Amino acid sequence: MTRSTAIVTGAARGIGLATTKLFLEEGRRVVMIDRDEAALAEAANGLTNITPILCDVSDPEQVAVMVPAALDALGHVDALVNNAGVADFGPIEQTDFERWRTVMATNLDGVFLVSQSLTPALKQAKGAIVNIASISGLRASTLRVAYGTSKAGVIALTEQQAAELGEYGIRANCICPGPVRTKLAMAVHTKEIIDAYHDAIPLNRYGTEREIAEAIVFLCSDKASYITGQTLAVDGGFESTGVGLPALRG
Ligand SMILES: NC(=O)c1ccc[n+]([C@@H]2O[C@H](COP(=O)([O-])OP(=O)(O)OC[C@H]3O[C@@H](n4cnc5c(N)ncnc54)[C@H](O)[C@@H]3O)[C@@H](O)[C@H]2O)c1
Repeated sequence: MTRSTAIVTGAARGIGLATTKLFLEEGRRVVMIDRDEAALAEAANGLTNITPILCDVSDPEQVAVMVPAALDALGHVDALVNNAGVADFGPIEQTDFERWRTVMATNLDGVFLVSQSLTPALKQAKGAIVNIASISGLRASTLRVAYGTSKAGVIALTEQQAAELGEYGIRANCICPGPVRTKLAMAVHTKEIIDAYHDAIPLNRYGTEREIAEAIVFLCSDKASYITGQTLAVDGGFESTGVGLPALRG
């Protein structure tokens, strides 16, 4: 089967833009969704076979307008990558309800809303969903009460989607990136956090946007045709090492 289309949310920069470019290299046409108008215009500039659509995925009304526009541009939807996300690190006592809701609105509500609205089209094309969670959704740590919980929710939501939509030929999988030097990460990663990650990650480095995109595009492809309901950490080995005491490395 030729897979020729994809929708990527949060496509204006970082992992979403890298994923868009990899889909384009594969020959797919891509709808790029983002709420940052200037960044979306800049990212789209010079790319061909793309349709940028301005949309805040946390807003049901905007999603309702975006979906027919995306279907109009693509005709059918072979892949949906729910990548749009926000990060906000803070102690539990300082994470007021507004901060909590802001994180949940994009990271969890957005994945639910966009997937639900595109389910009829995904059924028709027997398309694939890839949701972007985080290693913070797999392993708890300080300062991530909202972010980590939202990403654990994304992992659970992916399993719900896989369980319910499999009979329609829709696959749903989840990627948990380790740290990548994007605008999102650099806003919340202090020098201490960067050094600690280097120590705790067996590959001793941050990942690149392209390395995350490769796994996303694989899970969207028919090479992954019997894989659904899975969570794949693309994290340099962080998740597999448990506590991973650097002092025990020798
Ligand atoms: N960078 C990392 O270290 C890292 C690690 C683990 C997981 N992730 C996840 O990867 C995904 C991509 O992150 P990134 O690092 O590329 O971030 P980024 O900030 O570089 O890009 C995110 C994009 O999403 C857009 N966006 C945010 N909220 C939106 C909304 N409500 N509607 C539409 N667009 C919205 C932003 O405008 C931006 O263009 C996120 O879900 C993030 O949580 C990133």
